[in-house]
Amino acid sequence: MSHIRSVVVGCGAYLPEQVLTNAQLAEMVDTSDDWIVQRTGIRERHIASEGEYTSHLAVKAAEAALKDAQMAAQDIDLIVLATSTPDNTFPATAVAVQHALGITQGAAFDLQAVCSGFIFALATADNFLRSGAARRALVIGAETFSRILDWNDRGTCVLFGDGAGALVLEAQPHEGGRIEGRGILTSHLRSDGRHKSKLYVDGGPSSTRTVGYLRMEGREVFKHAVGMITDVIVDAFNATGLCADSIDWFVPHQANKRIIDASAQKLRIDPGKVVMTVERHGNTSAASIPLALAVAVEDGRIKRGDVVLLEAMGGGFTWGSVMVRW
Ligand code: ACO
Repeated sequence: MSHIRSVVVGCGAYLPEQVLTNAQLAEMVDTSDDWIVQRTGIRERHIASEGEYTSHLAVKAAEAALKDAQMAAQDIDLIVLATSTPDNTFPATAVAVQHALGITQGAAFDLQAVCSGFIFALATADNFLRSGAARRALVIGAETFSRILDWNDRGTCVLFGDGAGALVLEAQPHEGGRIEGRGILTSHLRSDGRHKSKLYVDGGPSSTRTVGYLRMEGREVFKHAVGMITDVIVDAFNATGLCADSIDWFVPHQANKRIIDASAQKLRIDPGKVVMTVERHGNTSAASIPLALAVAVEDGRIKRGDVVLLEAMGGGFTWGSVMVRW
């Protein structure tokens, strides 16, 4: 029987020009390159310049993804933008992107699931496409976390960076089995609000009328991360019948090298299949997965037909996985 698959037809990313190295951070707070590299694997991150908003990064990533897809902006009838650092409280940053791209049809909205945002956005767009509610979607992860960091808190300001990445998904008819053919094979989303105060921003329009700063119990996040990541990946393996050996690439949320290494090891994923960009990008929250995908597509690692496993875990807590045949 024929049904609809959401197929990735374009991929693009954008990083702000300004780079902030660990050595530069060590001049701002009491930290060192050694400490940051040892605990996180991060060496540098990109920082948006004054006047450069989340939507500006998102538009550049979206344009690159459309170019890669050889599509015009007018072909898009859905924009799902994952961010925790919108330009404004409202309207959605997605409508600023829609306007900048000259799109007037379809729907555009933001989705907020912190570092898991891109996985939640992909799963959401996939449901729209498979139900027939949309035909071509731009799925974007874009962040300016530098704007919500407390630059005096060495426990958090060394971890994050700014950037954006985007995929173009197209609804295409599919015949055949669950794991044959291109497109999103399965997605699994989870949340547990009992952990909401372990990683949060201490402001908001309804509570403090301010934007606030990111606060985190780093050890608590670390403690839960590997188990949660493993659970949703096992869900993806069970749903598809695939296993660590049958995937071609593992593209995890780029929070921390130690979390990525521990998750890959627990799942027995060959380290040679792990795409790692945290060293150069830092943790760009909802942007980290499409940024990493763009790097691995650009350098020729991810090719058409490859099975790519994506996962993320973040504030809420939220966590999820997506398995896609590229
Ligand atoms: N430079 C130097 N020393 C530091 C720094 C720093 N940047 N930050 C903290 N320290 C100090 C602490 O003050 C503490 O000193 P003390 O022993 O004198 O009190 C010491 O280092 C140990 O601090 P911990 O917080 O216990 O350090 P830990 O080994 O847990 O590493 C880290 C901290 C890197 C944040 C770790 O907990 C971690 O990776 N957690 C996961 C957090 C994460 O990745 N969050 C991203 C968002 S969620 C997500 O995306 C999955």
